[in-house]
Amino acid sequence: MALCDAVDKYVKESRPRFEEWLGRLVEIPTVSMDPARRHDMRRGAEVAVEYLTTLGAQAAIVETGGHPLVVGGWMQDPAWPTVAVYNHLDVQPAMEPEWTREPFKFTVEGEHYYGRGATDDKGPALTALLAARFAVEHGVRLNIQFVWELEEEIGSPHFGEGLSKERYLRKPDSVVVSDTIWLAGGRPAAPYGLRGNLAARLILETARREAHSGLTGGAARNPLTELAAVLAACVDAKTGRVAIPGFYKCVRPLGKTDRAQFLKSGFQVKTFAAAHQLTKLRARDRLEVMKRLWAEPTFEVHGFVGGYTGPGVKTSIPPRAEAKVSMRLVPDQDPAAIFRLFRAYVRKLNPDVHVEAHGMLRPYVADLGGPYAEAVRKALRFGFGKEPAFIREGGSIGAVVTMAERWRAPIMFLGLSLPEHGYHAPNERFDWGQASGGMKAFVAYFVEVSRITGKTKGSRTA
Ligand code: BES
Ligand code: MN
Ligand code: MN
Repeated sequence: MALCDAVDKYVKESRPRFEEWLGRLVEIPTVSMDPARRHDMRRGAEVAVEYLTTLGAQAAIVETGGHPLVVGGWMQDPAWPTVAVYNHLDVQPAMEPEWTREPFKFTVEGEHYYGRGATDDKGPALTALLAARFAVEHGVRLNIQFVWELEEEIGSPHFGEGLSKERYLRKPDSVVVSDTIWLAGGRPAAPYGLRGNLAARLILETARREAHSGLTGGAARNPLTELAAVLAACVDAKTGRVAIPGFYKCVRPLGKTDRAQFLKSGFQVKTFAAAHQLTKLRARDRLEVMKRLWAEPTFEVHGFVGGYTGPGVKTSIPPRAEAKVSMRLVPDQDPAAIFRLFRAYVRKLNPDVHVEAHGMLRPYVADLGGPYAEAVRKALRFGFGKEPAFIREGGSIGAVVTMAERWRAPIMFLGLSLPEHGYHAPNERFDWGQASGGMKAFVAYFVEVSRITGKTKGSRTA
């Protein structure tokens, strides 16, 4: 069909603009968890609005109690179906010592685009945007509205508030989220579930200042030692089994369908380990690894802060220790209930430890199949010549549960990132292969979705 030839030409011609726009966006350090970046967050939102309006779309910044939301798109005819396209434009900090390039300087090396946020999630956002512009110009009978969040990486605390405030946003008939990764290059994946997350800080203070361990050691309490004991009592370091009483009570056992989907996904332990540069694993059996990643909860220690970290050994007793932890949650675990279990357990272990929650995201799982899943399948086949594996995903996207509840609309995932692109990792990158195939895939998705009419079964939250 003529549209096919036209889309190839359009994708080729779009490359300079894609690179320039991604470059400008990557060079704005939209680190949502860093209070010093408030101004950059605002600039990021303004540039996003500029991109939308340059393409002839409507666009607006929606204020919230936190960082704003950017919404916009083409509301062409209320009689046509409406799709909401979700991406986030905020990024993680980039302080890893392994960066060999400036994280907030955009570097193009051949087909590769380096910089924090290139793949998570600025590259996919611009890919979908440029595809939408093509679809609109070529008469696809669909309303397309972009929802760009700037607080995804901090657990989407004001996303619901933003949705309520914006009058321009209509309830869409369906949602497509582009913020997930493939199993491997050449092996697309479309998740039908996400894990939830519960993050917390544990703080223990036992003195007002550092003390000499020769003068006070033996009598003084050591907050690092005590906090280490609390952490060790929360999780079996070897197996990863969580020891908080009641933690597994609501975990839904892996269903037959899940197991079958996992087994036929093409997931390979070796490829997985290599992509993330993991040199040691807790398990090697294929199904066991997939279960651990996508369908079981975890307890992780992300940071352990306190004491002396300079050269040599300073024989002091630190006054204070802090642990940064989080738990990935699966259906049917409720983050608030898990937090209560956790706090009560820590209190019992060591009543002096202060426990503070830092965001609660519920897990998500949708029904498999239906016309929208079929549209994703066709779209990826058109864009990349490959069909996706429908699997679950180990990561979390707070906004997904909010959109599912608010709009009661099916949510599909059309992610474009590869494991080796390095979500949150040093030398994060995106590439033209995923962007160009992604643009084609999104065009095909918009065409497919414009043809879906009537009531279809929605997605559900876990
Ligand atoms: N894009 C990821 C979510 C994701 C991770 C999808 C792995 C597929 C695989 C998202 O930007 C993210 O990093 N989410 C955070 C949320 C957290 C900070 C509350 C996560 O999963 O850690
Ligand atoms: Mn992301
Ligand atoms: Mn992320």
